[in-house]
Amino acid sequence: MIVLGIETSCDETAAAIVTDTREIRSNVVLSQLQQHAVYGGVVPEIAAREHLKHIDKVIQAALSDANVTFDDLDGVAATCGPGLIGGVMVGMMSAKTIATIKDIPFIGVNHLEGHILTARLTDHTAFPYLVLLVSGGHTQILVAEGLGRYKRWGTTLDDAAGECFDKSAKLMGLPYPGGPNIEKIAAQCTDTKAAIERFPLPSPMNGRKNCDFSFSGLKTAVRVHVDKLPAGDLEKDDVAQLSYAMQSKMAEILADRCGGAMARFLKEYGDQTDTPTLVVCGGVAANRAIAGALTSLAAHYDMTLNTPPLSLSGDNGAMIAWAGLERLNQGQSDALDFKAQPRWPLDPNAAPRHGAGVKA
Ligand code: KG4
Ligand code: ZN
Repeated sequence: MIVLGIETSCDETAAAIVTDTREIRSNVVLSQLQQHAVYGGVVPEIAAREHLKHIDKVIQAALSDANVTFDDLDGVAATCGPGLIGGVMVGMMSAKTIATIKDIPFIGVNHLEGHILTARLTDHTAFPYLVLLVSGGHTQILVAEGLGRYKRWGTTLDDAAGECFDKSAKLMGLPYPGGPNIEKIAAQCTDTKAAIERFPLPSPMNGRKNCDFSFSGLKTAVRVHVDKLPAGDLEKDDVAQLSYAMQSKMAEILADRCGGAMARFLKEYGDQTDTPTLVVCGGVAANRAIAGALTSLAAHYDMTLNTPPLSLSGDNGAMIAWAGLERLNQGQSDALDFKAQPRWPLDPNAAPRHGAGVKA
């Protein structure tokens, strides 16, 4: 089976061809980074217009890279949410149009599920597994029990981890997107011990029994440190030190929250799997310091750590094609009146978290 996957929920126009034998035949990602950089973040209306401008050629490139035509497709999947609605509509309507003209199934994919199922595309990871989903819009701990069956154990009460990276970077004068730029400059910090002593940062929620997160205090603490530095452009060494301190604290917080979740997973699901696994996914999964902290943690709990390859950690069409394939394999597809959903919780039964708002 061959499926085309389309992703347009944020600032990447992406399309990919994936087969049910787990072959990624093509994976085209057109970033809108330059269009948004000047604003220091993604501007929804600009994103939607850019998607519209480029979607046709991105789909064409995915087909030609894979050496297939529309006639070879067994299905077409598109992100239908959660995300910026203008962009989601562009990808979703393109997919529905192809499905109508070629008379093939359309599959409306939850973007978060795309990230979560990537481990099954790359590494055959079997259900159930524990998930740390860390992206620009979401930070959640879930259990993937099966296709379409997720238990959300925790979520952020305020900012997402990626958002905290992006906003902290902006405070330090680093360009968008903040995460990769903080990681890059943190690597240039020459005295890491001094950095952590010089820039103490809070550990919100650490040690608490639940799996929730809070990052707004961390971001504010970065601002307080920035405000104490000499006015004007910051010195490169100061930015490197503060970036290192911030990234280390983020890794420590994520590891603390995941530690509790691992213990609970082993207790509740340990007898259902021979290889208990933590899957880390979403854009922030690309961060090496965070992966390092989670590797040690996984070793401590005797669990396997699964992180996506760099090409699949950020938003891409391959994860959407794969999620579509998994559903097609189970005989599922969606009607052409399937609606775009700016909010689309993976676990609709999860108790709302006080203060979490739309991030839940
Ligand atoms: O999953 P993603 O590509 O888009 C969303 O669905 O949100 O995640 C984007 C987020 C951004 O906040 C970006 O700063 C962050 O992932 N990110 C990173 C790294 N690469 C991307 N954060 C920390 N370290 C990185 N290397
Ligand atoms: Zn994403």
